[in-house]
Amino acid sequence: MNSEIKQVVINPDAPPESLEAKQPYIDNGVKRYGKKAYYCREHMQQEWQKLWTQTWLIAGATSDLPNQGDYFVFEVGDESILVTHTAQGYQAFFNVCSHRGCQLVHEERGNRNVFVCPFHSWSFENTGKLRRIFDEETFRPEVIEHRPGLTEIACQAHAGLIFINMADDPEPLIDALGLPEGYLEAYNIDNMRVVRHVRSEWGANWKVGVEAFYESYHLHTVHPETRGVMGDLNVQYDLYPRGASRMIVPLGQPSPRLQDQDTVNEGLQQMLLDAGVDPKSFTGSAADVRRAIQVSKRERAERLGLDYSKLVDGQLSDSWATGIFPNVQIGCHPEAAFVMRFLPHETDPERFYYDTMTLLVPADDPNYTPPGWMGLPEGTDVTGANRPACEYYSLEEDAKLGLVLSQDADLLPVVQKGMRSKGFAGQLWGEQEQRLRHFHAELERWLGADSGT
Ligand code: FES
Ligand SMILES: [Fe+2]
Repeated sequence: MNSEIKQVVINPDAPPESLEAKQPYIDNGVKRYGKKAYYCREHMQQEWQKLWTQTWLIAGATSDLPNQGDYFVFEVGDESILVTHTAQGYQAFFNVCSHRGCQLVHEERGNRNVFVCPFHSWSFENTGKLRRIFDEETFRPEVIEHRPGLTEIACQAHAGLIFINMADDPEPLIDALGLPEGYLEAYNIDNMRVVRHVRSEWGANWKVGVEAFYESYHLHTVHPETRGVMGDLNVQYDLYPRGASRMIVPLGQPSPRLQDQDTVNEGLQQMLLDAGVDPKSFTGSAADVRRAIQVSKRERAERLGLDYSKLVDGQLSDSWATGIFPNVQIGCHPEAAFVMRFLPHETDPERFYYDTMTLLVPADDPNYTPPGWMGLPEGTDVTGANRPACEYYSLEEDAKLGLVLSQDADLLPVVQKGMRSKGFAGQLWGEQEQRLRHFHAELERWLGADSGT
């Protein structure tokens, strides 16, 4: 690496073995990757065969299946996956009847121990076992003697999230994750509840989505209103094995690009308020806000009986935006986790689904809210008592994602279109975009010669 390029370290005092510490630099070179992978249909098929059906994918949250009999359906690309909570734990199956291939379950979620196929009413237990063949006596025994149940796939819970894997012989989840032990666990996502779930269609390749959310370089142009409250140049980028990465975005401080570093502006006042500090009685300057947020949240956690014991002060104020290969970024906060999944479209490489779940630790405090950029609409039930249905939005509809995310939704099709131009020769990444390079290096490992590069 060019040693003159400064690598930001948020907390130079963090012990090297801590989760906060700046990770050793991983040199992924300076290669310029090709662009075919963003619009080519054959490439999309290669990705389906070599990536999506081979890697661990986050299907949902454990809090969505609290009781035995609970299930949900996870749609990804061409497949529909049924995830159930049985006496054996969490299990996952292709959502397809073994008789003639009819999709078995159509509701997004529910509680049932038995699934009956809508075509000829064969029935299956939620463990996948065949329960009953309708008019069984009309089948020649050889046809059904193997008692065809549902086809099971690998399913495993980790840190409050449920992962599935369609591969015949998947590697251990923990090896594939790449994140250090205790990293996700520290946030107690298993205590959180989904308070909003949105799946919106965007007009770009899924990788354009991942890339836009893996850097803070574009904040000054696309999200100028974040300047007052986000240290967009003070971002610590860390790379982990297996394509995992994170960026620590300090919140509660003005962008270093902003001239005024003193005034406690409106955005900072709101952040203080959200953290339980009355901005009117706050006497510090902008430089003191982040620390005040940390102190107040620590106190509030004790008062509300929330376990912040595994979270360092920086985690109380900042966003640890954590990327899990291939298609997830989790905005990790003590109050909430914003799980965003970039899911491929079934047929069109120039579309993807931006699937977001906002998970919140229910707490009895009116100011206890997820960060504003998560875009929770007013009136959202934040008690966690009722799991809301997923909201679906087509390309043409406004997904009501809030200002920041809507700005991204508007811009990404413009990037997609531009990348196709004959005049564009492939992306050039700086060190603020080192997570993109890291993501592509791992992608290339999965796709080999077919990575479109
Ligand atoms: S396809 Fe399911 S019972 Fe016939
Ligand atoms: Fe953005």
